[in-house]
Amino acid sequence: MPFDEAAPFDVAAVRARYPALADGYAYLDGAAGTQVPESVIAAIADTYRRGIGNVGGAFPASQRAGGIVAECRRAVADLLGGHSDGIVLGPNMTTLTYRLAYALAAGWGAGDEIVLSRLDHDANVRPWVQVAARAGATVRWADVDVSTGELPAGQYDGLVSDRTRLVAVTAASNVLGTRPDVAGIAATARAAGALVYVDGVHATAHGPVDVVGLGADFYATSAYKWSGPHIGAVVADPALLDRVRPDKLASSPDEVPARFETGTAPFADLAGVVAAVEHLAALDPAATDTRRARLLTSMASVEAHELRLFAGLLAGLDAMPHVTTYGRAARRTATAYFTVAGHTPAEVAAHLAHRHRVNVWHGHNYAWELTEALGIRAAGSAVRAGLVHYNDAADVDRLLAGVAELAG
Ligand SMILES: Cc1ncc(COP(=O)(O)O)c(C=O)c1O
Repeated sequence: MPFDEAAPFDVAAVRARYPALADGYAYLDGAAGTQVPESVIAAIADTYRRGIGNVGGAFPASQRAGGIVAECRRAVADLLGGHSDGIVLGPNMTTLTYRLAYALAAGWGAGDEIVLSRLDHDANVRPWVQVAARAGATVRWADVDVSTGELPAGQYDGLVSDRTRLVAVTAASNVLGTRPDVAGIAATARAAGALVYVDGVHATAHGPVDVVGLGADFYATSAYKWSGPHIGAVVADPALLDRVRPDKLASSPDEVPARFETGTAPFADLAGVVAAVEHLAALDPAATDTRRARLLTSMASVEAHELRLFAGLLAGLDAMPHVTTYGRAARRTATAYFTVAGHTPAEVAAHLAHRHRVNVWHGHNYAWELTEALGIRAAGSAVRAGLVHYNDAADVDRLLAGVAELAG
């Protein structure tokens, strides 16, 4: 059931599940990492409390660890619409992307090309630039329309050819919120036989995800952006993973997806990921049926809640003559990026934190190519205020009051 104005998102009930939100701060820094609900804290603590062993042993504590890994793969697969045998778990998206980049580039050489975007976080740019350079492959760039913040999908017709081995693109910009036409870009890439690597780290928190519908061969996400612990995951078709051979220990598992995972997993944190997915699935109490179905319903309600608040946030910022906002994409997440005349982004963030107890982020936020294209990186880039499902109208009002105070 989609979000219904008559039965608005019960943000007060949601906020009550987050102990950290009681500290009096407005947490508008969710794009850099969210708080975790009590259920996630409990799942992690309970894992240690019950006793935990390494995987593969004959005793119950070991078997619990194996069960947690399997359940974590199922939960992330439900969240993304993928297959649990295609969920690779790791410490974060950056580490996993480097790992996959090394493995995929092993087959590249001179004459091969990859296509990257200037909209992307550097974690979906630099690993590919570096492995392409080593392989002698060429990097081609998709550019952002800086007046709107859009990544025009039409340009990919001219960038992708039968030489293209991979297209890396974000499902949402972590600063402008722009949601490019990933499905259209992926269709162009796949028609040319290229793989598509989608950065879903920012996007996943803000609405339903369907990796098959997106046409993503790989989709990366990080649980700490959606109320979970610091764990990253990449989903891919298990049959595709089966064709990729990462460096690994002789003694470690050879099967997919474990072949891509190095060392011993943080089992308690993986239990926390499961609890985070359950938390997301329950955000809309009207959601019913399977966990996947409940996730789709709940995340649609989350998206509507965030965008409704965001309309007020953006209108408020745009009404202030001393504020410049960046990005006007038709489809975007509830993420504002702005500068304030006469104040550096660092000064704005410090003012908001110290005088208003409002947490925002400032700087390039690793949107390295984008902040350069916007012409703001050298001056400290901008301030980012982003909404997630636990933000409310009071958070928005406090941000706007704090920024208004900086006029003149
Ligand atoms: C869009 C996007 N991609 C990638 C990353 C990197 O994620 P991780 O910290 O899991 O390596 C981030 C982190 O902020 C991000 O926002």
